[in-house]
Amino acid sequence: MSLKVLVYGCGAREQAIKDSIKHSALCKQIVESICQNPDLIIFGPEQPICDGLVDYYSSLGIKCIGVDKKFSVLESSKLSAKKFMVNHGIKCAKLLPVESDIFPQVVKADGLCKGKGVKVVYNQAEKDEFTRFIPKPYFIEEYLKGDEISVMSYFNGQKLINFCPARDFKRLSADIKSPNTGGMGAYCPVDLSELQMNRLEKYLNLLEKALILEGAKFNGFVYSGLIWTKNDWYVLEYNVRLGDPECQAILNFLDNDFLEIILNGEKPVYKKGYSACLTVASEGYPYNPIIGDEIILPVDDSVKVYFAGVKQIDNRLYSNGGRVLSLCNVSDNPFPVLKDYADKIIMRHKIFRNDINIF
Ligand code: AMP
Ligand code: GLY
Repeated sequence: MSLKVLVYGCGAREQAIKDSIKHSALCKQIVESICQNPDLIIFGPEQPICDGLVDYYSSLGIKCIGVDKKFSVLESSKLSAKKFMVNHGIKCAKLLPVESDIFPQVVKADGLCKGKGVKVVYNQAEKDEFTRFIPKPYFIEEYLKGDEISVMSYFNGQKLINFCPARDFKRLSADIKSPNTGGMGAYCPVDLSELQMNRLEKYLNLLEKALILEGAKFNGFVYSGLIWTKNDWYVLEYNVRLGDPECQAILNFLDNDFLEIILNGEKPVYKKGYSACLTVASEGYPYNPIIGDEIILPVDDSVKVYFAGVKQIDNRLYSNGGRVLSLCNVSDNPFPVLKDYADKIIMRHKIFRNDINIF
């Protein structure tokens, strides 16, 4: 079996997916459009998944990698996700009454908000300010304190295949009050204690059982955003896709064939060391990025560069979005390599996080 594959989406995550399958024996060709009759579609972003495109293309007989419409509510409705967790005994933050005055607390818009519908608020004024603008309905949950990890799993209709824990850096800067972004960097694996590993295994078994009990049949990725608190993992969120930039870190870390994992149930095997990814963004991101800067990349084979928001005109590169580049390296200490590379990139309004590291 050798397939014509379409990777749906056009960001750095989707480039990393294409990069990881292009030499696979299971991939005959990567095609750019649905008109080229793909045998397999791998969905990147949440929007087409939540819009039901997996169901649609599956009904046309095309094999799709993506969560179906029914289960996409795990991401598109945080309240539905909460119900799923509570019904299956999965630990998560408690819901508080909307008028709760216990601070800090977390305000969450129910629907898809591209990471901008959640805020930890520390007082009533901040709460009033945030709730005035976010989409309704929203809800309030208890604030949990702890280290976070992202665990991405692949459900193949029967069982979960779990990737190693990753960690992303969501905030724009080290300042805890700086805005949440799509992700300024990520790394894997995250070193966990034995207790944390045991609890993680327990949680992932619970998730697998829950999906089976609810009748899940899809072939797709489920992302668990977890926080370590009160000696256990609590779920902060579900996504129905691979995380961006965690996907870039994980796929570069794989030592076996990604398509063998998703099509033939192989277990992931990893390289040695750590795999990291650093986002180069445009000044003004996430609200008002300044775009249109010419980009000149240093020549250095140790760093892989994926384009997140780049326009190519006459062989020249220009910034064309908030997140512009995704830099990747696998080694014993990848972040210094990536920061050094990012330093050398010529792009007038470039920003990146110089403070992040493996911890
Ligand atoms: P979410 O999109 O729900 O993952 O939220 C985005 C970020 O907000 C998370 O990665 C956490 O840093 C923070 N967050 C969300 N829910 C909570 C919570 N209950 N307690 C503490 N921080 C939270
Ligand atoms: N990195 C988190 C996300 O993709 O939502």
